[in-house]
Order: sequence, then structure tokens, then C-alpha cells
Amino acid sequence: MKYKEIISEIKSVRLYKKEEVDAKLLNELKQYYEQGKRLVNDIEMEVIRKSRDEVFEQLKGFVGYNNRMIEAPHYLIFLSEEKDYYIENAGYRVQDIMLKAWSLGVASCWITFENGEEIKKKIGIDSDKKLVALIALGYEDAHNKVLYEKGSKYNTSSNVKLVEDNTSERLGIRDLVFSKEWGEKADPDELVNYGLLEGFFYGILAPSYKNRQPWRFIVDNGTVVLAVKKDIYVTEYEERIDTAVIMLYFDAIIESTLYNITWKLGKPEKDYKVPDDYKIAAYCIV
Ligand SMILES: Cc1cc2nc3c(=O)[nH]c(=O)nc-3n(C[C@H](O)[C@H](O)[C@H](O)COP(=O)(O)O)c2cc1C
Repeated sequence: MKYKEIISEIKSVRLYKKEEVDAKLLNELKQYYEQGKRLVNDIEMEVIRKSRDEVFEQLKGFVGYNNRMIEAPHYLIFLSEEKDYYIENAGYRVQDIMLKAWSLGVASCWITFENGEEIKKKIGIDSDKKLVALIALGYEDAHNKVLYEKGSKYNTSSNVKLVEDNTSERLGIRDLVFSKEWGEKADPDELVNYGLLEGFFYGILAPSYKNRQPWRFIVDNGTVVLAVKKDIYVTEYEERIDTAVIMLYFDAIIESTLYNITWKLGKPEKDYKVPDDYKIAAYCIV
């Protein structure tokens, strides 16, 4: 996949044409999903595709920002067995599918939720596996407008407003990447030397719950530490998906330019003294 190109273009789409996606493309997506990138190897997942009529009315008023359900011709419902880091693994795989879909001309959007078991009942899914992602999928309607939250920078309000443009704002690399210790802004030249600048450049385009961009990185002599902001208005599920998505973006870009990297989930031994409202989610050696 041409990750750089797709990452530069992809956006969340909330308005879809009624027409169904070409069966060939849906098949291609399914195949990609079977072989696609994984964060943790031995977690069994399942994906179920359902149509608008099987999902939209059933979940209206129950899922999404401010319980605002997104209407789409298809929904992808991802289920996973419950193991360590199963939500991160799901976030990683699902976002990769969303990137693949975009490369095929198919748009998508995450739909957040709280009560996975209740959703399974409402849409008739009988499975022991946990619901880990609900995604709207279809062809973008040309009149699409982006729904995103006020201001978007460190937004703490739950208001969602409709704006005319199609691009969400992003923080800069200098806001997100520290060198050696928390708060010490990284010098882009140093990041170039490590071959990491592009990873961050594209990484910051990752989607996140309410576009909160909760990620901070510390680059410390070949170790990249990922810290994620804890916010009271964000559920653990949303926090863990946000974590996974940035790991995928970073991996995909670094791998396409340099070498393979493997994230280790959890904390490194060294104490990076991250503030209380952040937690270290993962690190990798580059
Ligand atoms: C975990 C997660 C949950 C999300 N839930 C919703 C949602 O329920 N409704 C919605 O319209 N967008 C949702 N989004 C999309 C984000 O608002 C969007 O990715 C962000 O504002 C950045 O915009 P962009 O994807 O167009 O770049 C979600 C994104 C993530 C990562």
C-alpha cells in the first residue's frame, strides 16, 4: 500500500452515497484484512459486514458522538477474543483496513460506543467475542461536510459542530515530540538523523477520538517512547484505539522508508517522568 499517499489524503467521512460498494472491492478488503498488519499475533478476530437496514435504525441514538449515528450503506463490525492488548490490536488492524479502503476509493469513519454487549444484541450478533470496532463504510457523498469538534486543539468539550471544510487541524511535530526527556522539544534535524522525521510527520495526521491528538513522543537515543494523554471525557476504549492508530501510522511510514519496527506495549525500564495526566503506552527501538 502507498501509505504516505493514503495517509496524506484520508479523512473521516460522515455522509455517504446510498449506493452499495462494488462487491469486488468488498472482497478485496476482506482478503486484505485476513493478511493485513497485526499488532499482536495470537488474538483471534472476526469481521462482520452488515447493511444500512440491519444497523442504522437499530443503533440510532445509541452510538457515535453525542449519540449521533452515521448513516452508511455498510457497517463493519469487528469482534475480538479478550486477551492482553486486544483493543490496541483491533485499533491497529481496523485502521489499516480503513487505509486500504481509502486506497480503493471507499471512505469510512469510526463510530464510538460504550456498551458493546448491548449493540451486539440490537443488531443480532451472537458471539462470545467482544465488540471492538464499529465502522461506517461507503462511497463519499460529494456534499460531505466534516463534523468535528470546536477548535479541535486539545478540545475538552463534547460539542460537535458542522464545519464547511474537509480537513481537521493537527498539532505540529514540535508540540508532540520531545528529545530525551519530557518537555524538551525535539530538533527536527536530530529526527532526520534517526530517520524518524517522516514517521512523525505522517503520524500526526492519524485520526483520534474528537481529534484530541493525545500522543506525545520522547526520542531517546534510538528508543521512541509513546505517551498518551488521559482525559476524563475519554473512555478507556477510545484511549486505547487512539494509541493503536498512531502506532500503525508510525510503523507503516517507518517501514516504507527504512526498516521494520516492533512496538513493545507497556513501559520501558527508564523512568521518563511523564506528568500524571499522561501514561506511557508503548515504546520501540529504532
Ligand atoms: C476511537 C475513535 C472514535 C471516533 N468516533 C467517532 C464518532 O463516533 N463519530 C464521528 O463522527 N467521528 C468519530 N471519530 C473520527 C474522529 O473525529 C476523526 O478521526 C478526527 O476528528 C480527525 O478527523 P479526520 O479523521 O477527518 O482527519 C472517531 C475516531 C476515533 C479514532
